[in-house]
Amino acid sequence: MPDVNSDFQIAPSILSANFARLGQEVDDVLASGADIVHFDVMDNHYVPNLTIGPMVCEALRNHGVTAPIDVHLMVKPVDRLIGDFLSAGASYITFHPEASEHIDRSLQLIRDGGAKAGLVFNPATPLSYLDHVMDKVDMILLMSVNPGFGGQSFIPGTLDKLRQARKRIDDSGRVIRLEIDGGVKVDNIAEIAQAGADTFVAGSAVFKARREEDPHRYDSVIQAFRDELAKL
Ligand code: DX5
Ligand code: ZN
Repeated sequence: MPDVNSDFQIAPSILSANFARLGQEVDDVLASGADIVHFDVMDNHYVPNLTIGPMVCEALRNHGVTAPIDVHLMVKPVDRLIGDFLSAGASYITFHPEASEHIDRSLQLIRDGGAKAGLVFNPATPLSYLDHVMDKVDMILLMSVNPGFGGQSFIPGTLDKLRQARKRIDDSGRVIRLEIDGGVKVDNIAEIAQAGADTFVAGSAVFKARREEDPHRYDSVIQAFRDELAKL
């Protein structure tokens, strides 16, 4: 599969997968060329929805998934679940700063456990939460929808926020991924990349594009994303 820019990573959100056959769905998107498994954890408290926890992450590892698992915590409180996800095989753990009483400590807990740490910014959450922790983040995740559900529309103002986050990363000189989550589709991924994102979460756009005639069910849609990124 031609990889136009190996720095662009596609992260299907399994929130939109068929949970009744989750292991196969994850195998299929990875075999189709996806890079990262985006794993949305919702607690019916920080966000008004309830999804999956560490046992499901561990089950995917036991199933044989070796790709990075990108755990997006939409939970409050944050810290106790960090340990559970470290044990369950998470590669990245990101959380919302408003949900942690001690942001620096939560970031450190993640890194001390051997995973990569990140902060997630809701559409109205200021990037100033980064001011004193740029040396402790491996990923910055900008929400381009309000968290809680798949299938929402991309909020256009996120493009400008992406440019601001990209500038903060470049000015820092550090290796920090800039991820975008919410409403990413084949027809907007190029402008999102242009604004500075390098890691693209896509839930409904991937899993609704399943094609039985594709060798691994999602080859066409992952290739469509790559083709758009190749136009940059
Ligand atoms: C929303 C989740 C997203 C969601 C994105 O709270 O964090 O990861 O799955 O879904 P789409 O790509 O359908 O907007
Ligand atoms: Zn997410």
